[in-house]
Amino acid sequence: MKKGLIKKVVACALLGIMTMGFVGCGAADNKTTDGNKGEGKDLLNTIQEKGKVVVGMSADYAPYEFHYIDENGKDVIGGFDVDIANEIADALGVDLVIQEMDFDALVAALPAGKVDLVISGMNPTEERAKVVDFSEIYYNSQHGILVRAEDVDKYKTFADLEGVKVGAQLGSTQEQIARSEIPNADLQLLNNVNNLILELKAGKVDAIIMEKPVAEMAIKSNPELAVGNPIYEDKTGGNAVGMAKNNPELLAKINEVIKELNESGKMDEYIVKANELAGSADIVE
Ligand code: ARG
Repeated sequence: MKKGLIKKVVACALLGIMTMGFVGCGAADNKTTDGNKGEGKDLLNTIQEKGKVVVGMSADYAPYEFHYIDENGKDVIGGFDVDIANEIADALGVDLVIQEMDFDALVAALPAGKVDLVISGMNPTEERAKVVDFSEIYYNSQHGILVRAEDVDKYKTFADLEGVKVGAQLGSTQEQIARSEIPNADLQLLNNVNNLILELKAGKVDAIIMEKPVAEMAIKSNPELAVGNPIYEDKTGGNAVGMAKNNPELLAKINEVIKELNESGKMDEYIVKANELAGSADIVE
């Protein structure tokens, strides 16, 4: 399964190169998606007709989605977002294709038909909801800060971060939190969360705002780092699956899968499994 998944990811990358990046993976046969829109056809039908669901992710976010080396020495993507994506593909009776992209490109990729869904630890913010639709929350999370262990008492509140080099992922809610809570921070925005962690370790940034579960995961493999005190309660309440607007059948189906995963306890199992995997596996940064 994992192997096949990676093959598909590679195939996507190759397709992207061959078409000189004019079409993203999934865009070629997604043309019908736009056409279908006019006819009022739900994206659920299009996905089932093409036999695959293209899910956009930024795989730099353990335990949500991350690259690791599996038992065969292969670089694969794991995490509970991947498990949720697999469950959705199964429920729709189609193959899963993971399309990796920078986090800040994911929302726009939905109306553009480059991906069918986004499952990437995304908060369903009001601003994004103007452009895309969101499922119910599948995971409750808050935001925290990651700092070097020796600085943990230095940054007790967001106000202590004024004037300090604060890192956040470009286009993320954490960027917005930094802008609103620490207006005078020296904001360092990067596309990749793993690079932010490297910058923190190298002393180039002094604190990173990130989802608390991601910060907690990062300290397992980086004992020189620590999760600081400041917590930011997300108004959206957590993470949801994004999709192009006005596809009520697809939305209902995704919500059904989320509900089942919650009720059966499978969601919790996937979260535990992802945390164990991210804590023990050879993570590729
Ligand atoms: N929860 C944050 C947001 O919605 C950040 C998510 C980042 N996800 C990722 N896979 N890097 O903006």
